This record gives sequence, C-alpha cells and structure tokens, in this order.
Amino acid sequence: MDTAKKIVLFQCQWCLYAPEDQDWVDHHLPENVHLTKVPCTGRLDPLFILNAVQGGADGVMISGCVPEKCHFKEGNLSARRQMDEFSDFLNYVGYDEDRICFTWLDLQDRGRIQKDVAEFSKKVEALGKSHSLNTRSVLPQGGAHD
Ligand code: FES
Repeated sequence: MDTAKKIVLFQCQWCLYAPEDQDWVDHHLPENVHLTKVPCTGRLDPLFILNAVQGGADGVMISGCVPEKCHFKEGNLSARRQMDEFSDFLNYVGYDEDRICFTWLDLQDRGRIQKDVAEFSKKVEALGKSHSLNTRSVLPQGGAHD
C-alpha cells in the first residue's frame, strides 16, 4: 500500500499569515504534514532538518517571514543561506535537494500557504519515498503539532 509522503513543515511563529490561513496551518494541515513552529527561521539549526530527514521526512518545508519583516532582523536571510548550503550537503549524501523547500509568506499572501503545501506535496509525491537517510523510526502519522 502506498501512503502519502511525509513532510515536515517548520513555520516561524511570527509569520504573518492571514488568520484563516493560520487556522488552516494550525488545525487543517493534511495528515501527512507534521508542523513544527520555531521562534524564527534563523533559529533553525541544520540538525533539526537532519533530524526530520532521519526520522523519515520525505520532504522538508520551511516557512519564514518576508525579508524585511523578520523579528530578528536578518534571521530569515541567514536561515536561507544556511539551508541552501545544507541542502547541497544533503543532496551530496543522497537526499534530493528538491525535497527541501523554503518559502517566505506575509499577510497579503492569502491562501498561498495552502498552494505552497499542495505544490510541494505533489513534488515530493513525484520524487517518491526517501530511504537514503531514514535511520530511525518514522514520524508519527497526524497533522498539527506545536
Ligand atoms: Fe520570522 Fe525571523 S522572525 S523568520
């Protein structure tokens, strides 16, 4: 039986989603998307990504504040640079860099998180299951978790 591929969504807790979009993220994410909120994408240690990958994530999505609205000045820019470099490393060790997605969202981007999650899920489905770095038990099934 083929099940939906597992995705971990790291969301900056300060992302200014429209209330209905945040409600969707908090309560109505697809079952295969596991939510982890972070205080700023700049606080995302690459080890968090590695942990997700080793735990069975077939894809990792990072959603942060738009560049000029990071609460910690340039945390999002620094995270983007760091994740670009880290995804190169993951690619080198067999985890396709297309399995990692970075997005910046703001209040005026109403409905975009749903589209971004759907598009990324489709891409990850097409890539198939990732086995190369899955060294621990798989992520639990289920939706939103803080
Ligand atoms: Fe949101 Fe920095 S506070 S990305």
